[in-house]
Amino acid sequence: MNKKIQKIINKKNKTKIVCLTAYSKNMAEEVDRYADITLVGDSLGSVLYNFNTTRKVTLTNMLDHSKSVKMGIKKSLMVVDMPFNTYDSNNKALKNAKKIIKDTKCDAVKLEGGKKIIKQVNYLIKNKIPVMGHLGVLPQTIKGKFRSKGKTEREKRTLINDAILLQNSGAFAIVLECIKTSTAKKITEILKIPTIGIGSSVNCDGQVLVTDDLIGLNETKIKFVKKFVNIKKYIKSGVKKFSEDVKLKKYPSKKHSY
Ligand code: KIV
Repeated sequence: MNKKIQKIINKKNKTKIVCLTAYSKNMAEEVDRYADITLVGDSLGSVLYNFNTTRKVTLTNMLDHSKSVKMGIKKSLMVVDMPFNTYDSNNKALKNAKKIIKDTKCDAVKLEGGKKIIKQVNYLIKNKIPVMGHLGVLPQTIKGKFRSKGKTEREKRTLINDAILLQNSGAFAIVLECIKTSTAKKITEILKIPTIGIGSSVNCDGQVLVTDDLIGLNETKIKFVKKFVNIKKYIKSGVKKFSEDVKLKKYPSKKHSY
């Protein structure tokens, strides 16, 4: 097994796992300093391209951003989301996962779903493609209004079964998105592999957020997002100062001219 992946698994019940998204080299460089896992999430569809659904994200989108991200990574495990419609059969999943790994040199891929995609997950892992799972709210298949998961006994049982299926297939970790606290806690306790929560409470083995959300670059009102810094304030101030200095002919000075 990839040593970086084994290190992530070994963190379970010892230290919390930090996972953050990056869509470009410059962001990846900063994320890589603190994150155990850098995720090129298909959330880039809504964050960068204003798509109303991640279903519109293409394989080309993911490959281009992932190649950029790879340039910024020195130590973290790089995981790339397989976009919608790229893993709906075993052969398609393997062909596309191989392309993602070959072209971007990432360490693993992430797929959304449990039982419904377990054949593909098994097939990828048998073919030595490391897989991260994703359960709970699944943006690629979301229908109608947003609703958190794992609130009813039935949903809880399905989620637990899906998580066990993914673990038995050989997935090395599972993202739990917007799952009720007690259900996320139960899944985390049952599994030997780590859970990475997003809106699923502190009981998960790690946490993931979209970096653009936590730094305030992407405006969002989603309940689980905490704005840790308001980066827009700094961007505004730099852009304003540049604009003023250009108009006042203060920039470029001799120092900045050839
Ligand atoms: O697409 C994404 O960024 C994700 C994370 C938010 C888990 O899947």
